[in-house]
Amino acid sequence: MSDILKRTHMCGQLRSENIGNTVVLNGWVQRKRNLGGLIFVDLRDKTGLVQIVFDKDISAEALYQSDRIKSEYVIGIQGIVKERESKNSELPTGDIEVFVDKLVIYSEADTPPIYIKDHDDVSENLRLKYRYLDLRKPTMQENLKFRYKITQITRRFFDEEGFTDVETPMLIKPTPEGARDYLVPSRVNPGNFYALPQSPQMYKQLLMLSGIDKYYQITKCFRDEDLRADRQPEFTQIDLEMSFVDVDDVIEVNERYLKRLFKEVKGIDIDLPLTRLPYSEAMERYGSDKPDIRFGFELRFLNDILSGCKFKVFRNVIEEKGDVRGINVKGYSEQISRKTIDKYQEYVKTYGASGLAWIRVNNSEIQSPIAKFFTEEEMSAILKRFDAEPGDLILIIADKPSVALNALGHLRNEVADQLGIVDENEYKLLWVTDFPLLEYDEEEERFSAVHHAFTAPRDEDISLIQTKPERVRAKAYDIVLNGVEIGGGSIRIHDNRLQKKMFDAIGLSEEEADRKFGFFLEAFKFGAPPHGGLAYGLDRLVMLLNKNENIREVIAFPKTQNAMCLMSGAPGIAEKKQLQELKIKFKEEKESYKEKK
Ligand code: AMO
Ligand code: AMP
Repeated sequence: MSDILKRTHMCGQLRSENIGNTVVLNGWVQRKRNLGGLIFVDLRDKTGLVQIVFDKDISAEALYQSDRIKSEYVIGIQGIVKERESKNSELPTGDIEVFVDKLVIYSEADTPPIYIKDHDDVSENLRLKYRYLDLRKPTMQENLKFRYKITQITRRFFDEEGFTDVETPMLIKPTPEGARDYLVPSRVNPGNFYALPQSPQMYKQLLMLSGIDKYYQITKCFRDEDLRADRQPEFTQIDLEMSFVDVDDVIEVNERYLKRLFKEVKGIDIDLPLTRLPYSEAMERYGSDKPDIRFGFELRFLNDILSGCKFKVFRNVIEEKGDVRGINVKGYSEQISRKTIDKYQEYVKTYGASGLAWIRVNNSEIQSPIAKFFTEEEMSAILKRFDAEPGDLILIIADKPSVALNALGHLRNEVADQLGIVDENEYKLLWVTDFPLLEYDEEEERFSAVHHAFTAPRDEDISLIQTKPERVRAKAYDIVLNGVEIGGGSIRIHDNRLQKKMFDAIGLSEEEADRKFGFFLEAFKFGAPPHGGLAYGLDRLVMLLNKNENIREVIAFPKTQNAMCLMSGAPGIAEKKQLQELKIKFKEEKESYKEKK
């Protein structure tokens, strides 16, 4: 027998137009107030709250039963909508209330370990442990709906553009994205492992070889890497690939996608085309390959001015092929105390910089611990380089070029953040293009692919692959939103000879390439269209558009920093029998098994 009262309305949707209607509502008890002969309950479903009233004049039976209900009980009621005497303008349903004549209690509830309301200051760990309760909160419900809105717009757009959604496998041979794989042991092939995909990269390329022409997929990717606020071990990509395209074609369709997305989700008109910054320029001007361009403080280069200066630190750095660079925190000198500068000094040290010099430009004088080392000409050349005016604070780092750039890039963000000058409502998108194809890996003492080994070099740089590998630019691009890399992609190599050159450059022997990607390389022997694509990090995109600080807020069931699910306890130990079937034996099996038990 079903005792479900068949819902006629959603709680949050009732308005004064409904006055006089008999309605049936289902939901959770948010809160109950007992005023003697009257009991008021706020009833909640996904649309919001409505006040329901138990009154003995309407139904003594319902009033009697309602005595039992408590917060988070799940109930169904039938009642009549009436005008509310004391209206609540803060609640969309605040003009009315529902007088109950019938109550069904579907289930009882223990006192929940977290409050079901926004802005409660309970620890995130407790929220994650009781995620299903946390998700009852209005904000979390909104976050999930917002994410869904974005995936719907995405699907509609790429469908209209003639892309086909194709699912690719989850149990695969390792892909070449460069993070650590999650491995899955094979029971039927003992000793063999699948990898979970770090991305569908090889499969989407193979789909181009299959003639699919335009592919997209919204899919999970898995990477066993160190986690941060914008990184999860499993995350979602909006992944796409197109045939017979060059960089401009991929960028063009994606710009239209982003324009549509921003318009429909935020009501913001984005001007196209978006800014494109070559990687080298992004590094020079912002010390970052994902610059936040909502504020200035651009980096300036000082070696030419200071190569002969009396400050030994700077001179030595320049002699040893290092860089002296700085930023001008324009107009904010007064807001930044000596103590704060000391904090910045500590901050840049975390990025490997050995020091931070500063110059305050006051109205009538220059204030700086290093001013004494500079001639008048040198000082005025520095000030000119930074377009310095009274009220400015110049911060300078001398170090190895990569350290100076990286530390200043981070410092630039940190200073803007602390000053609180970044407009949260502003969205600045840009492409960073022409990434280097290869980078030298000091540890491995060889070059490795910056994006991945199938990324094509720019045609005019192909001849440099053997001679000056570090100078080769790739047909690779990232899309950056407010200082966060929300997507990246490239035009791929579709020619086996060029692919071989690439493998040679990264020291991948023919035998190793064959073992890793043999099936993939073979496919290119049978007719491969030129192709390229891109993948967005959906979680990051949603996080930024929804103004969250952490991607966990826009993922229903996320993992913690140490890749655990606090709700389910995953990862857990495998049963002995399962391990036996997989023919897996841990050296310390006994101890760890006992320990966990
Ligand atoms: P890439 O490795 O740049 O490219 O990944 C694409 C985008 O995915 C997001 N992302 C992540 N988001 C959350 N957690 C993570 N651990 C994580 N790692 C990456 C980022 C990133 O820009 N196959 C290529 C794409 C291509 O070449 O078409 C790829 O995966 O926003
Ligand atoms: P010192 O002579 O070492 O006391 O340094 C004088 C100033 O130069 C201090 O403000 C230091 O922080 C700064 N300084 C030292 N090393 C560097 C460096 N590598 N880059 C920038 N500033 C530095």
